[in-house]
Amino acid sequence: MEKMLEGKACLVTGAGRGIGKAAALLFAKEGGKIVLNDVDPVEVEDTQEEIRRAGGQALSVAGDVTAEGVPEKIVQTAVDAFGPNIDVIANIAGYTWDGMIHKMDDRQWDAILKVHLTAPFRIIRAAAPYIRENARAEKEAGKRIMRKIINVSSVFHAGNRSSNLHGDAK
Ligand SMILES: NC(=O)c1ccc[n+]([C@@H]2O[C@H](COP(=O)([O-])OP(=O)(O)OC[C@H]3O[C@@H](n4cnc5c(N)ncnc54)[C@H](O)[C@@H]3O)[C@@H](O)[C@H]2O)c1
Repeated sequence: MEKMLEGKACLVTGAGRGIGKAAALLFAKEGGKIVLNDVDPVEVEDTQEEIRRAGGQALSVAGDVTAEGVPEKIVQTAVDAFGPNIDVIANIAGYTWDGMIHKMDDRQWDAILKVHLTAPFRIIRAAAPYIRENARAEKEAGKRIMRKIINVSSVFHAGNRSSNLHGDAK
């Protein structure tokens, strides 16, 4: 049976463990060529080794997605290794640092926005010129190739505990 992601270049952040790692392993099993990222260099290297041992293709870029230059490095690594075509971007790096709204400080708010919104924006922005150019060429050639961007976050980041404002807050 044909693999779903045969030859497709995929970027996966937060690939050191949890959902990001599971996604990276699945994408690789389906034939994807993966650039893995995680802030934890040991864990992301483990994911890379696991994919390679299973016969897949993976490279890792260790680093904090919110740090200067890391989003661009992830994209550039994919382009250098796999060519100027990026098919899947899975922004999965993240964490929860939630609390009742009246107890959340600006540091928590800013950190969550950075990891769940700013970093994905920067990765997509860095990839956009390649995606646009390829999509234009494909359109001219009468081809339609679907690419995917997956942004994973959590409802807990949206201050859903603000319901506590209405009475049950401690
Ligand atoms: N597990 C759940 O039930 C659940 C539910 C809803 C949403 N989510 C969201 O899904 C995402 C993944 O969750 P998980 O359960 O797999 O978490 P996890 O903690 O198991 O894995 C997250 C990975 O992201 C990495 N990471 C964190 N901050 C990073 C950064 N700044 N730069 C690069 N890597 C970073 C961590 O090192 C870790 O390897 C998170 O965004 C989380 O908020 C999880």
